[in-house]
Amino acid sequence: MNKISTLLRLLPLLCFTAALRGQNAEIIEIATNDSAMVFVAKSGAPVIFRYWGEKINDRHLLLERGYDERFQIYPAFGGLNHANIALSLVHADGSLTTELIYAGSETKVVDGNRVETIIRLRDKLYPVTVDIHFMAHKAENVITQRAVVSHQEEKPLRVENIVSSYITLRANSYYLTNFHGSWGREMRVTEERLAQGVRLIEEYRKGVQTTMADNPSFMLSLNHPADEDAGDVYAGALAWSGNYNLRFAVDEREVFHFTGGMNPFASVRVLEPGEILETPEMVLTYSPRGRGQASRNLHDWCRNYALAHGGEPRPILLNSWEGAYFTFDEKTITDMIDSAADFGLEMFVLDDGWFGNEYPRDNAKAGLGDWQVNKKKLPRGISYLADYAVSKGLRFGIWIEPEMVNPNSELAKKHPEWVVKSPGREIPQERNQWVLDLSNPAVQDFVVKTFDEIVALSPNITYIKWDANRPIFSVGSEYLPNDRQTHFWQDYVRGLYSVYERVRAKHPDITLQLCSSGGARLDFGALKYHDEFWTSDSTNAVDRVLIQYGTNMIYPAMATASHVSPSPNHQTGVALPLKFRFDVAMSGRLGMEMMPKDFSPEEWAFAKKAVQNYKLIRPVVQFGDLYRIFSPYEGNARAAMTYVSKDKKQAVFFGYTLQHCARMSTFDVRLKGLDPAKNYRVIELNPKSPRGAFPGNGKTFSGDYLMKAGVSLRIHRPHESVVLHLTEK
Ligand code: DGJ
Repeated sequence: MNKISTLLRLLPLLCFTAALRGQNAEIIEIATNDSAMVFVAKSGAPVIFRYWGEKINDRHLLLERGYDERFQIYPAFGGLNHANIALSLVHADGSLTTELIYAGSETKVVDGNRVETIIRLRDKLYPVTVDIHFMAHKAENVITQRAVVSHQEEKPLRVENIVSSYITLRANSYYLTNFHGSWGREMRVTEERLAQGVRLIEEYRKGVQTTMADNPSFMLSLNHPADEDAGDVYAGALAWSGNYNLRFAVDEREVFHFTGGMNPFASVRVLEPGEILETPEMVLTYSPRGRGQASRNLHDWCRNYALAHGGEPRPILLNSWEGAYFTFDEKTITDMIDSAADFGLEMFVLDDGWFGNEYPRDNAKAGLGDWQVNKKKLPRGISYLADYAVSKGLRFGIWIEPEMVNPNSELAKKHPEWVVKSPGREIPQERNQWVLDLSNPAVQDFVVKTFDEIVALSPNITYIKWDANRPIFSVGSEYLPNDRQTHFWQDYVRGLYSVYERVRAKHPDITLQLCSSGGARLDFGALKYHDEFWTSDSTNAVDRVLIQYGTNMIYPAMATASHVSPSPNHQTGVALPLKFRFDVAMSGRLGMEMMPKDFSPEEWAFAKKAVQNYKLIRPVVQFGDLYRIFSPYEGNARAAMTYVSKDKKQAVFFGYTLQHCARMSTFDVRLKGLDPAKNYRVIELNPKSPRGAFPGNGKTFSGDYLMKAGVSLRIHRPHESVVLHLTEK
């Protein structure tokens, strides 16, 4: 009896194995806790991309779905045609075609959470191999993918295009969400139904500031526009800080094809025999529960794998930029430090303007590259200020922009050969500056040395804001040989990453902010070396609601630097209440960026209290799960969200009415993400008046009630807001 039942249990497996043998095919599954990508491989034939979605039990049945060579894991240019091409090579003999077939696979358990699978492909004719690497991050349901190419042809091979990832999906319709904008209005969210044909999201010529207009990330919903809490949503983000290309194609059979990777424009790579070319990683996640879960997967993954010190709380800081700009002396800064300490902040950051002597950095026209402390402004040096901050109980940080140089600088005169330029042509300036050629190891050494020297100014410097304020124009490198100029785009980024690696190896504890005129370099490739990013130069709180909503679709709130700035704001001139500005900034990594002495005593008292309140909610905002409730993009009237701690014992609700809303009588909202069985005491933080906006302030409600009946808030005018702190009772 026992034997029979064992046999019955094994039957599906035996059939499965027989099917494999019969078809000479095998299934390769890349599995996380809840999702799986499935490929079908046959020796001597292309590997087929078969499935990506929720884990399925009967995956062997996928073998019976035919074997269509048009849907390959990594289609090269050659053989059958495809909607997108993953790899395009010109072989040493001039042949343009490559046909990749299965050459084996390997699986390695990296640790309790990560499994790496390598699927090996080789060309049918030429000695070219392509390894596709997948890393399954089980708990976060994230899969990262990259490709590695090498060859043993007799002469160099030309790599015309090489992507990180190729995905095929089949559905009735496809809805693409992408994140776009420009300076001061980054990461705007737009969703569109993909028509037959190709939609490109790319940056092909900036090299630096590549995410100013579009972010290399997306979400894709199948069959209907994306919902926050239901339906199939796929999300992806390229971990690359250079030119990129995301291509979304719906072919004539309504099949969806995605390729994502470095942009091939003007970037042919000459690969020597035995040399290896590796793509950046594409970060992928699948959610059966809408956009919300896709974001939470990426946030968890980012905190664990793509953010420096992802488990440590971020400090609340005062940054000098919007308060002082370039005009300050020692007293201006020590006064700001005094104020920061009085507010209860934890760090002071001295922004641009502290360096340059022969060419003093008194404005954006001079000094970049000359990283010596300006003696006139700061006669006792940086160490005096850093020590002063520490004596007031604050950490101290400083701004740098080490990839750039002003023509008006000692560095530009000394090393003209380090500047990116096209020989014989004028070197275009933007923000009065040029870009240094990071493909050159001497420039990499200079940047590392600069970083070391600045950190050495004081042991009390524990935070660096790394800025980059212009893209590349009129490309050219004096370092690269004439026949390797097209390597520049990739080599710049590899040079930058090599610098980050060296800096991080030497200074593992330093807090690094990723900044590029705001969010113009926001990608997982750079972010992994940093603790946070400067989200936008627009600190106008209404803009910020839109920017942060889009940003936090992909990148987590704990890394989203979010500052309370002057009002009317310098960028937009719109006056906004201090409460609204704090309530918006507190949904990310709170900071302040204004001149404290401009505050009235009432504003000062409010700010102090708000900083205290942020300390209460910080663990939930920075480490909790984000549940979006109202989108500021729908109806343009309100935005709302909840952060819920992993154990669901605490939550923070944020609700905002926006500038352009019509008069509304109530703000009724059902909370999300709570434990229905738990009881929560709800306290309104930062109330505008003692009466507040939440009638149930201080009372206890069940999670069930708060998620079903919700709360009614007394906010209806533009720029009003509510923050509720929920704690389990
Ligand atoms: C651009 C940054 O985004 C600002 O925050 C500030 O640091 C300026 N650069 C300084 O030049």
